Amino acid sequence: MEGQERIGIRRADAKDIRRVVEIENLSFNTPWTPGFFKHELSNPVSYFYILEIQDKLAGYVIFWIFKSEAHVANIAIHPEYRRKSYGGQLLNWVFQFCRKRGVETISLEVNEMNSAALQLYTKTGFKQVGKRVKYYEHRYDALILTKTLL
Ligand SMILES: CC(C)(COP(=O)(O)OP(=O)(O)OC[C@H]1O[C@@H](n2cnc3c(N)ncnc32)[C@H](O)[C@@H]1OP(=O)(O)O)[C@@H](O)C(=O)NCCC(=O)NCCS
Repeated sequence: MEGQERIGIRRADAKDIRRVVEIENLSFNTPWTPGFFKHELSNPVSYFYILEIQDKLAGYVIFWIFKSEAHVANIAIHPEYRRKSYGGQLLNWVFQFCRKRGVETISLEVNEMNSAALQLYTKTGFKQVGKRVKYYEHRYDALILTKTLL
């Protein structure tokens, strides 16, 4: 862990969408549109949070909580800030946030080709419980991963 730079995690608002979409477009082949992100700001089950490094928006996470279950819908770190432990720190923050609200399990889907994300999830304790065949771009499987938070 670098530990040198000041980080903050705060709730997203409409002013963040432009920069979030920039990072999204740098991160995915089939990115979410601005409308998807706007919707998450008013979705009652959604928690949309921004990671700031030295006051610069460097990443985001969106997760949904349904009583005792949570689902990570989206997470990305700007390419300039990758591989410096921020993705892991953001995920660990999500686990803590969910635990405090009585969430017992957290799940997500990841493209089988996304080795960076898969390594991050394995390292943070997720296990594969299933897959959706050819879910991404009609070619690549989505691996379904879960982690117990208790
Ligand atoms: C996946 C992502 C969020 C990881 O963020 P990050 O800040 O770079 O991750 P971290 O620095 O916390 O990495 C933690 C661990 O994950 C693994 N990891 C992360 N990136 C990796 C890479 N490119 N290759 C191999 N392992 C990687 C490593 O085990 C790493 O630990 P280490 O650096 O001590 O070896 C980031 O790569 C990203 O935004 N990717 C594009 C969006 C995306 O794929 N989101 C996930 C969708 S399911």
